[in-house]
Amino acid sequence: MSASEGKTIAVIGSGLIGRSWAMVFVSGGYRVKIYDNKPGHASKAIEDISEQLKELKQANMLRGSLSAEDQLALISSHEDLKGTVEGAFFIQECVFEDLQAKHSVFQAVESLVGERVVLSTSTSCLQPSQVFLPVQNKKRCIVSHPVNPPYYVRLVELVPHPDTEPSVVDSTFALMKEVGQVPVRLRREIDGFALNRVQYAIIAEAWRLVKDGIISVEDIDLVMTEGLGMRYAFIGPMETMHLNAQGLEDYLKRYREGMKRVLSSFGPVPEFSGEEVKSINQDMCDLIPSDPQHLTARRERRDRCLLGLAQLKKGLE
Ligand SMILES: NC(=O)c1ccc[n+]([C@@H]2O[C@H](COP(=O)([O-])OP(=O)(O)OC[C@H]3O[C@@H](n4cnc5c(N)ncnc54)[C@H](O)[C@@H]3O)[C@@H](O)[C@H]2O)c1
Repeated sequence: MSASEGKTIAVIGSGLIGRSWAMVFVSGGYRVKIYDNKPGHASKAIEDISEQLKELKQANMLRGSLSAEDQLALISSHEDLKGTVEGAFFIQECVFEDLQAKHSVFQAVESLVGERVVLSTSTSCLQPSQVFLPVQNKKRCIVSHPVNPPYYVRLVELVPHPDTEPSVVDSTFALMKEVGQVPVRLRREIDGFALNRVQYAIIAEAWRLVKDGIISVEDIDLVMTEGLGMRYAFIGPMETMHLNAQGLEDYLKRYREGMKRVLSSFGPVPEFSGEEVKSINQDMCDLIPSDPQHLTARRERRDRCLLGLAQLKKGLE
């Protein structure tokens, strides 16, 4: 019997991320009540989840110890917010990335739940102090930012509101671990959290190198997929420094000046607009046309690759 049996999580918003969270939580044995303000959307989400669980079972990639049928039986769809949050100890909000939408959800939710219920948002770019502005009791508010698709990419960034109680961060951390995600804690809020700050630094330098004619679109992507990315699925930048010399201090002794010289040659933040977009977009579309058919095929390839990588990592553990 799972320790989580009988515990209920409410997922608000049944789009891409809401569905994935629902699948992650039921894989850990939690009951999930899913709600969407568009009539019929939540029940449609369950049909889609049912298909996904069947496919995962066939691919031998189903997470958790319960069967696909048992996991599906733990999810219910709801047409009213009150019924959705009733009995839930944790609310995972997954509505549009729009401050007004999030405010109206959390205002409504706060009026319906007890003060110990954790209010968690999936926001990618909004700061917790913005998202939770209308909430009276901010001690139980937290960002749990997933990476798409969370079923294969397990990282979750936990970002507290300035008023969040440490015990709420701890219990959310424990919940995420229990359902098989890999949570990381940010000690305070910062624009972009950690993942997007690093991601945007990479995008900016890749953009500058292509815009300045140093390297092609195709080759800069190879620098990541066949170079840095090969390593980064297993060791991060800190461990890389530690292992590429006799420890981190020795690495810095050897490479500090070179790193600082290269870093100080970086250009300003790109505009990402105008002629440079036209030209870089054309190069990208020559490789992958931007019609729905080609993009869907590449997304399916991406998900197959991520599934394979997730299998490999699981095997190595
Ligand atoms: N898609 C990603 O790659 C990704 C990754 C990490 C985090 N996020 C974050 O997750 C959240 C959801 O993103 P998504 O990609 O699933 O969006 P989505 O557009 O696929 O789904 C949003 C869903 O929320 C519903 N909704 C809108 N307003 C609502 C309300 N007031 N009450 C209930 N339901 C409502 C919509 O009907 C829709 O079904 C966003 O905050 C986004 O920034 C997205």
